[in-house]
Amino acid sequence: MALSPQFLDELKHRFTLSDVVGRSVKLVRRGRESTGLCPFHNEKTPSFTVNDQKGFYHCFGCGEHGSVLDFVMKTQGMTFPEAVEALAGEVGMEVPKPSREEIERQRERASLTEVMAAVAGWYQTQLRGQAGKAALEYIKGRGLTDATLERFALGYASAGRTTLKEAMKARDIDEDQLVETGMLIKPEDGGPAYDRFRDRLMFPITDRQGRVIAFGGRALSKDAKAKYLNSPETGLFHKGATLYNWANARAASYDVGQVLVVEGYMDVIALAQAGIDYAVAPLGTALTEEQISHLWQMADEPILSFDGDNAGQRAAGRAVERALPMLRPGKSLRFMMMPPGDDPDSLVQREGRGAVEGLIDKAEPLVSMLWNNLTMGVQADTPERRAGLEKKVFGKLAEIQDDNVKGLYQRDFRDRLFQQFRPQRAGNGKRGYQTGGYKAGGYQGGGRKRLAPATGLLAATKLGRSKSGAAITDTIQQLLVFTLVHHPEILVRYEEEVAELDLSVPGLDGVRNALVEKAAFGDALDREAVHTHLERAGHMDTVRKIAADKSLKGDWFAWPEAALSDALTGFEHLLSRYQHITAAKEAYEQAEADYAAEMTEANHARFVAAQATFRALEEKEADKEGYRLESGRFSFI
Ligand code: UTP
Ligand code: MN
Repeated sequence: MALSPQFLDELKHRFTLSDVVGRSVKLVRRGRESTGLCPFHNEKTPSFTVNDQKGFYHCFGCGEHGSVLDFVMKTQGMTFPEAVEALAGEVGMEVPKPSREEIERQRERASLTEVMAAVAGWYQTQLRGQAGKAALEYIKGRGLTDATLERFALGYASAGRTTLKEAMKARDIDEDQLVETGMLIKPEDGGPAYDRFRDRLMFPITDRQGRVIAFGGRALSKDAKAKYLNSPETGLFHKGATLYNWANARAASYDVGQVLVVEGYMDVIALAQAGIDYAVAPLGTALTEEQISHLWQMADEPILSFDGDNAGQRAAGRAVERALPMLRPGKSLRFMMMPPGDDPDSLVQREGRGAVEGLIDKAEPLVSMLWNNLTMGVQADTPERRAGLEKKVFGKLAEIQDDNVKGLYQRDFRDRLFQQFRPQRAGNGKRGYQTGGYKAGGYQGGGRKRLAPATGLLAATKLGRSKSGAAITDTIQQLLVFTLVHHPEILVRYEEEVAELDLSVPGLDGVRNALVEKAAFGDALDREAVHTHLERAGHMDTVRKIAADKSLKGDWFAWPEAALSDALTGFEHLLSRYQHITAAKEAYEQAEADYAAEMTEANHARFVAAQATFRALEEKEADKEGYRLESGRFSFI
């Protein structure tokens, strides 16, 4: 299989080596490297080292060494083509079947990059020569140092119509190749070719390996037609698949775990000069999916910077739309808006690196950008409008391809809708709890003052902040049942789910069964009837016990005063959370048991996947509610 080095390189870059190795070897991160016990020989102290940046592993014990492909071949007993096929399949890359022409094209490509290198070198000398005097003055006047000009290989294309053409001819470079790379324009009418870039400051654009594949040229004269002129699409250059400063930013972003996306060449360069060397830019167009994929190989949450004006807001909105279907566990974007009138170049030159880093620190996550886009200025003051909004929101979230991420977004947005557009309730008595049902237990229902749900469901649900692990699932269970006791109408919609709930808190099972029983008989599900039923069946003690638990007071939706719609939303929220947690936990435990019983590759893969899903959920829970799950076991710290 004669695969091109480009393809193999691309394939390897789609993976973070330690992720792949980490599926079978427990790794500990140490600076740039991770270490673990070598899978290729028996050892007690770790000498197996993985370097993600270089993309290879090395064992200092047995000398095994290789890339992600070698690792897969050796640990899974695959041949090279099989390993390529397997890894490509995992990231949805098609393995090319190279033809004779393909191989020929590769050779041509190689010689085209040599042409581009020669052109870039020529432009650089021009900038330092007589012809480039004004250009050099201009760019130095914008604050760039010699070192920066060198680092970004800035050059100058002189004003003459065929200066480049002649210079390259003197170097024996083929005119056709200059046309092919877009450096010369060959008129349709068959006239002689001439230089594409004239009297422009030249910014070489490189591929990921740092080879020049195109140029951006900034006009120096005020009457030039376009401020920037870029190379056309060529065999070497695909605008939508390239990022300006990609090669340089890669190593830097690896070190800081961050990549910043700005709009212009000058922004990238000014930032780098100020010490922020992990910035890249698209080439004058909106970010493409391909560019987003590249960015995710550099950092989990690339930060996109936009102008603070309306156009910048719209551009940010487009980036959100583009990325939404592509979100997957761990991968997102953040957004930073420039102060009005500034771009990163002007800001960093005026106020220094700290000003930009301050904005980076405050960058908004994609989820809140999306939320703002969907709800900004939306009225949701009637049921119809609120339903319309919900339709719009959930329709948008349906675009997310990854089920896990989608599920968590839906949950998050349900909370946000609940929190923000919760109908404001007035008065009290009306919906209040009137029966004397369990006053005997000291619990005063209806007349009690309304609980203040000032900050919405999640904030109000102080689950676990001060509780131990088991206590949190216990609390969720209690709240679910408690809500049903006060709002049995919910059973009309959720009878089945309630019947299936795995309830471990003593007494709850009995209450639930009595409720479901009542619903199953088609009895009217009003609160009073339900209470009488529960009292008769001897379950009211359990309910009173829950009512006496002070820590549940904040969860106002579970109490009788809450409007049914709020109780329902609160219930749905908790139900989905509880179901999520129990399902993920069950799947994880099951996969673990299967793997323990039968240690096959397939079982291992399933175990790893179930574990990852469960952990992602844990993390999300931890982030969102401010409590943590202990990894591996389902308990809260
Ligand atoms: P800007 O106009 O913000 O450019 O366009 P800049 O990099 O800040 O340059 P200065 O500071 O004015 O010198 C942002 C990017 O949009 C593309 C270029 O990639 C530019 O860097 N662009 C802009 C074009 O492709 N063509 C244009 O005519 C203008
Ligand atoms: Mn600018």
